Amino acid sequence: MPNLLTATALTRSYLDGEREVSVLAGVDLSLNQGDMVAIVGASGSGKSTLLHILGGLDKADSGSLTVANLDVLALNAKALAQWRNENLGFVYQFHHLLGEFNAWENIAMPLLIAGQPAAHAKQRALELLDRVGLSHRAEHSPAQLSGGERQRVAIARALANRPKMVLADEPTGNLDEDTAAMIYNLMLSLNAEFGTTFVVVTHDHTLAAKLPRTLAMDHGLLVEARK
Ligand SMILES: Nc1ncnc2c1ncn2[C@@H]1O[C@H](COP(=O)(O)OP(=O)(O)OP(=O)(O)O)[C@@H](O)[C@H]1O
Ligand SMILES: [Mg+2]
Repeated sequence: MPNLLTATALTRSYLDGEREVSVLAGVDLSLNQGDMVAIVGASGSGKSTLLHILGGLDKADSGSLTVANLDVLALNAKALAQWRNENLGFVYQFHHLLGEFNAWENIAMPLLIAGQPAAHAKQRALELLDRVGLSHRAEHSPAQLSGGERQRVAIARALANRPKMVLADEPTGNLDEDTAAMIYNLMLSLNAEFGTTFVVVTHDHTLAAKLPRTLAMDHGLLVEARK
C-alpha cells in the first residue's frame, strides 16, 4: 500500500504560566493507506494533541507532516479547512452531532459543506446509515438515539466524503464494553471494505488489541507497543 502519512520530529509545547511544558517531544509516525492503528497512553500523555496536529486542527511547533504528498504545516487556514473536509473524517468521544438535525442530515452535512447537491448528499447519507445498520433511525435526532447509535452516526458522518483517513479520539470512551466492541468491529469492517485508514485513540488496551497495530504515547514520543 502507498504511503499516506509521514510525520517527522513533531514537537508541541504549551505555556503553563511562565513554564513551557513539552507534550510532544519529537513524534515520528509513518502510515500507509489502509493502515489501522490504535494509540494508547496515560491521560495527559498527548494523544489528543497529536491527533489534532495530524488532522490539521492544531499546529506543531516544529517538525514536518506530509499527508497524501501534501505539506500540511504549510497550508493556510482556508486551504487547511478544505483539505480536512476532502481528506479527513473525525470521530470524537462525545459524537459532536448537531442536535437540531436528524441522523441522515448530520451525515449529509460534510457533503453539503463540500458543495454536493442536496439530493446526492441525502442519498449518500442514507447509504451510509444503512452501512452502519441504522436505516430505521434516519429521522431520529441525536437526543433520540442511544450512545452507541450516536457513535455509529458519527462514524458514518466521518466517512461521508470518502476520506483517506479517519481520526477517532476515544470514540468509545463513553460506551459500555459490548457496544464499544461493536464500534471497533464496525471500524474494522469499514477499513476492509473501503481501505480507509483509521487512527484510533483509546485508553483501553483490550480494544486497542482489536486493531492490527498499537502505538503508545510515552514521554512525548510515539513508540511501537505491539505489531
Ligand atoms: N490548550 C492547551 N493549553 C495548555 N496545555 C494544554 C492544552 N491542551 C493540552 N494541554 C496539556 O497537554 C497535555 C496533553 O494533553 P492531551 O489532551 O493531548 O492528553 P491526552 O493524552 O489526550 O489525555 P486524555 O487521555 O485525558 O484525553 C496535558 O498535560 C494538557 O494539560
Ligand atoms: Mg485526549
